[in-house]
Formats: sequence, C-alpha cells, structure tokens
Amino acid sequence: MAENKRILLVSRPMGMPKPDNFRLDEAPVPAPAEGEVLVRIEMISLDPAMRGWMNEGTTYIRGVALGEVMRAFAAGRVIQSRHSTIAEGDYVSGLLGAQTYATMPAHQLSRLDLSLGPLEWHLGILGMPGMTAYFGLLERGKPQPGETVFISGAAGIIGSTVGQIAKIKGCRAIGTAGSDEKCRYLLQECGFDGAINYKTEDVEARIRELCPKGIDILYDNVGGDILDLGLAHLARGARVVICGAISQYNEPTMRGPRNYMKIVTARGTLTGIIVFDFQERYPEAVAQLSQWLKNGQMHTRTDFVDGIENFYPALMKLYTGTNFGKVVLKV
Ligand SMILES: NC(=O)c1ccc[n+]([C@@H]2O[C@H](COP(=O)([O-])OP(=O)(O)OC[C@H]3O[C@@H](n4cnc5c(N)ncnc54)[C@H](OP(=O)(O)O)[C@@H]3O)[C@@H](O)[C@H]2O)c1
Repeated sequence: MAENKRILLVSRPMGMPKPDNFRLDEAPVPAPAEGEVLVRIEMISLDPAMRGWMNEGTTYIRGVALGEVMRAFAAGRVIQSRHSTIAEGDYVSGLLGAQTYATMPAHQLSRLDLSLGPLEWHLGILGMPGMTAYFGLLERGKPQPGETVFISGAAGIIGSTVGQIAKIKGCRAIGTAGSDEKCRYLLQECGFDGAINYKTEDVEARIRELCPKGIDILYDNVGGDILDLGLAHLARGARVVICGAISQYNEPTMRGPRNYMKIVTARGTLTGIIVFDFQERYPEAVAQLSQWLKNGQMHTRTDFVDGIENFYPALMKLYTGTNFGKVVLKV
C-alpha cells in the first residue's frame, strides 16, 4: 500500500526559512469522506506567499499550525471520488498541501481542462499567479494604450504575465529582474520595451531613461528600494498596484515605502490586490490567457524541481532569485 509523503511545518522560521523548519514524514493515504475526493498529487506549486503562511497568526489567511502539512497549491489526478461533480480520472487543483495524496471536499477544488495547457500551467499562468497578474493589472491598474507600466520582479510568473498583458493592451512595459539572462528573456521572449538588472545597474538612472514621461502604472512585486525608486517617478494620475513585497518577507520588520508622498503630488492611487477576491471571475481570465497563449501572444516558463524531498531547495529558489519561471515540484 502506498504511503502519503508529507512536508510538515515543524518550527517557525526567523528570517530565511531553514531546512529544519520542515520535516518529511509518511502517513497512510487518507480515505475520502462523503462529498470528498482523493487526489494523487503530481505537481506542487512553490509560491512566495508561503513565507507569510509559516508565521503565527492570521493575515488574509491563517498561518499554518506547527505539525500541519505545509499549505500549498497543488494539482493531480482524482483516484477516488465521493461527489457527483468530479469523477475518477479528472485532473484538479486547489490548496491540497505539500504532500503526495490529499482528500478534499469537491467544492474546494477546480476541475482542470488540460486542453488549455499542460498541468504545470494550471499552477502558473492559468492558475493562481496568472489570475493575480490578470486582475491585478486590469482591475487595479486599469491600463490605457500608450501608458508606461513599470513592473518589479518582472521575470517571475506574475511579473512576466503582467508585462505581456500590458503589451497586448497597447502599453509600454518596463521591468526589473535580478540577472542579465532574465532581462534578455523579458526583452526577447516577453516583448518588454525595457529591462533593468537591479543588481548591477543604476536603477534610478535607467528608470529616467526608459520612462521619460514617468510611470503610469507601478505593479510592485518586491517592495523595498525598487518600490521607492518607482514611486519617485510616478506620472500624474498614476496607479500603484501593491501585489507583493518579496524583498521584505524574510526581514524581521517590513519596511514601508519612503516616497509615498509622491502619491499626493502625482494625484495617484495606491491599491492592493488579493487574488482570491476575484475567484468568481477566474474562468474569464483562464479563457482569455489560454487564448493568448494559443495565439502565441504570450509565453510562460516553468522551473521544475523533482521529488518531494526537494521541497526546501525548491522553495528557496524564490527567495534567492535562482528560479527562472514558475517553480513547480514534481512528485
Ligand atoms: N496579492 C496577491 O494576491 C498575490 C498572489 C500571488 C503572489 N503574490 C506576490 O507576487 C509576487 C511575485 O510572485 P511570483 O509567484 O511571481 O514569484 P516569482 O517572481 O516567480 O519569484 C520570486 C522572485 O522574486 C525575486 N526576489 C527574491 N528576493 C528578492 C529581493 N530581496 N529583492 C528583489 N527581488 C527579489 C526573484 O527574482 P529576481 O531574480 O528578479 O531577484 C525571484 O525569482 C510576490 O511578492 C508574491 O508574494 C501576490
């Protein structure tokens, strides 16, 4: 009989996560109750937000309890169903956890249409990160043709999707990323108009050069210094969309923006987005993104890691910038 291999959170990180914050254990494969399905998980998504979920207390979602399976989006095949809407053999995704088998109420899962794209896309561009990019840019940023969209963390799954949607909407897309290779990817494959290596270039000088009329939409994934530099160059009427602040997640205290008065002088707005608020509209975004992908108007990349035992190194790719594309653990 197969065992369920699970990654448990066993202690809370201080700063960067350490290997001993997690433990790999084995447990019997759970049996689905009435209304539930049993899923053989094939892919686990690694997401920056996991760092926040490791903390005690509740933000927009409660922290993972010690000893509990680490929360994770995952996708796999249903091997037993006790609900009429999902059948054995269906592929599903949801917050199934970092493990190889999971039971879950059918209504908490999304049934996946693999004709729209491979399984990994349903954790990336057609999954939660793609939804965040789509609604974050279109509903919060409200791009208009000819506007300049500045995206931090641009080579990531969300940033690269935001930039490509901005291009489709007739905007200029400028992004920051942590290596020349990532910058080349933005320019050559994602069609960005400008890319700044924030580790080696003078970011402020490059913003001035690449955004001569200022930034109309600042889509921020990283916070910290890059957010401050972007704020300093807002155009009149700019919209700042705060999506994440990965540069701050492992800091003992989060640093807020210093240049926030620029919102006042630019007559701008600063808004946040939580993707789950758009859940009812996901089908619309999935249909549109998959069409753009099929038409060749968009590209996406996956960074695969093999084996559940490599959960920790896969996670750390996000906080060290060594990932190139959506990090997916094959299990
Ligand atoms: N609001 C929501 O509903 C929502 C939903 C999902 C995700 N998010 C947020 O969206 C952001 C992007 O997520 P993603 O899934 O697309 O991740 P990602 O960009 O694919 O991966 C994380 C990237 O962040 C960059 N990074 C890491 N540490 C950094 C630092 N100290 N300073 C600057 N950049 C750093 C690295 O790229 P470089 O090589 O460029 O450094 C790394 O590759 C995250 O902040 C995440 O928390 C928000």
